[in-house]
Amino acid sequence: MQVMNRDSGPFDDQRPGTSGLRKRVSVFEDTPGYLEHFVQSVLEVAEVGEGPILVGGDGRYYNDKAIKAILRVAAGNGVKRIVIGRNGLLSTPAASCVIRKRGMKGGFILSASHNPGGPGGDFGIKFNTANGGPAPERITEAIYERSAKRRGYKEADIPLPSLDILGPTEVEGVEIEVIDPLEDYVGLMESLFDFDLISSLFASGFTMVFDAMNAVTGPYAEAIFRDRLGAGNGCVVRSAPLQDFGGIHPDPNLTYASDLVELMFSEQAPDFGAASDGDGDRNMILGRGVFVSPSDSLAILAANAYLVKGYRKGLAGVARSMPTSRAVDLVAQELGIPCFETPTGWKFFCNLLDHGRITLCGEESFGTGSDHVREKDGIWAVLFWLNILAATGRGVADIVSAHWKRFGRVFYTRHDYEGLDPDAAAEVMAGLRKRLPSLAGATAGTMEITAADEFEYHDPIDGSVSIGQGIRLMFGEDARIVFRLSGTGTVGATMRIYIEKMVPDPALHSHDPQEVLAPLIEAAIGLSRLHELTGREGPSVVT
Ligand code: G1P
Ligand code: ZN
Repeated sequence: MQVMNRDSGPFDDQRPGTSGLRKRVSVFEDTPGYLEHFVQSVLEVAEVGEGPILVGGDGRYYNDKAIKAILRVAAGNGVKRIVIGRNGLLSTPAASCVIRKRGMKGGFILSASHNPGGPGGDFGIKFNTANGGPAPERITEAIYERSAKRRGYKEADIPLPSLDILGPTEVEGVEIEVIDPLEDYVGLMESLFDFDLISSLFASGFTMVFDAMNAVTGPYAEAIFRDRLGAGNGCVVRSAPLQDFGGIHPDPNLTYASDLVELMFSEQAPDFGAASDGDGDRNMILGRGVFVSPSDSLAILAANAYLVKGYRKGLAGVARSMPTSRAVDLVAQELGIPCFETPTGWKFFCNLLDHGRITLCGEESFGTGSDHVREKDGIWAVLFWLNILAATGRGVADIVSAHWKRFGRVFYTRHDYEGLDPDAAAEVMAGLRKRLPSLAGATAGTMEITAADEFEYHDPIDGSVSIGQGIRLMFGEDARIVFRLSGTGTVGATMRIYIEKMVPDPALHSHDPQEVLAPLIEAAIGLSRLHELTGREGPSVVT
């Protein structure tokens, strides 16, 4: 095998964000050695030795080229065993599952998650460690350092076997094995959920629609919902993974999955609706005439976990990202289990999961998961809901309103301002940060700000500290506003404002969150001077 030293970099823009290195496709395509340089940095830092390592992605444009490049650089760096999903496909949670199940040294996951794909869209690469989870900050920082300071990468000139034929191939001393991207994952789901019980629910006439958004979950959803559980032929829509996701934004939320939302609020609504994103880690849950907010969904799964095979023995604890609503805290309190508050991004849950401190965790951004893998998991969340519905014989709306009645309702909304001028967005945050000491005790309208701070996280397992994780304004125990800049956007800056209010009074439960939260929304705009400083008049996306 011939190994060549290629020149590249250094690049000072390869700091992995909330979930890996994510850029416009053109950055990868037009900058010679850009992807290879990043892979070299990972391999120098991550200590994967001879492997095995996993490679797979959501099938978006540039997936194939990236896989070839990763293979050559990995072989050039002495990796001797590489496992690849058939046709280069693996959902993010399935990749995590495979790394764990097969005891691999780590893996490269190729995706830009919910961001659009195609030549004009986004591409991303992320490294997951041997626990199946996204590399922790200590590793991503070291990758960034190497990438920004050193030049070059090593590349072996080896041919790539056909990626559509299952099984191992030996290529100049490197074993490349193509695996079925579904097998390990479907087996894991079957071990956690009662497939027979869910099948009888569908046999009794229960109906569902799953929107795969032309992305990677299509084949998983058809294999599980249609073929194993008998949910019917039309139960998965937009099921073929397309390189450009058919031009849509593969993000399961009220804005980008509006067709499904419309269906669920129409006369033709099935009993259950769900969607996942580009790489299969997000989920949106709907019932007939009802949308389940992700924060509520986490709380409801926690409260009903005892009904589900894989979780029957109880939950060690739960965790939510800081901006996620405190609905799950109310459940943890009643169950008498710990509830952790972590910064945004799945990697912060992984230490807690690895050390058995939590069983379930989630984020307001349509991400829910458990200790079964080290990523959030869209199909898993859908199965969890189906299992609860099958075990209780109740509908989604019924489950949600019973939950609010028992625990109180936390009204919640997130307003996103996308594509902002980064300087203006930084000015908004800096302004708030500077005024933090004087904000505590100040009033906004008739409401008093009782506390104001910037969230920092002290990891209870390794003691690492993450600062600057969002500005919080508290209005007593019940209401809260959080300001945060996105770490995943690829164009300009995105400001996220998270607003919540706990309401124990069931009489208010049917109200629209935007209405209930209106005074807090107004306070958020006023206090941050957001519109003034950015020239915007309103958010781009409201969830
Ligand atoms: C967003 C979400 C965050 C999630 C991440 C990856 O990150 O807010 O919860 O973990 O995508 O899916 P952000 O753009 O806010 O940094
Ligand atoms: Zn995703």
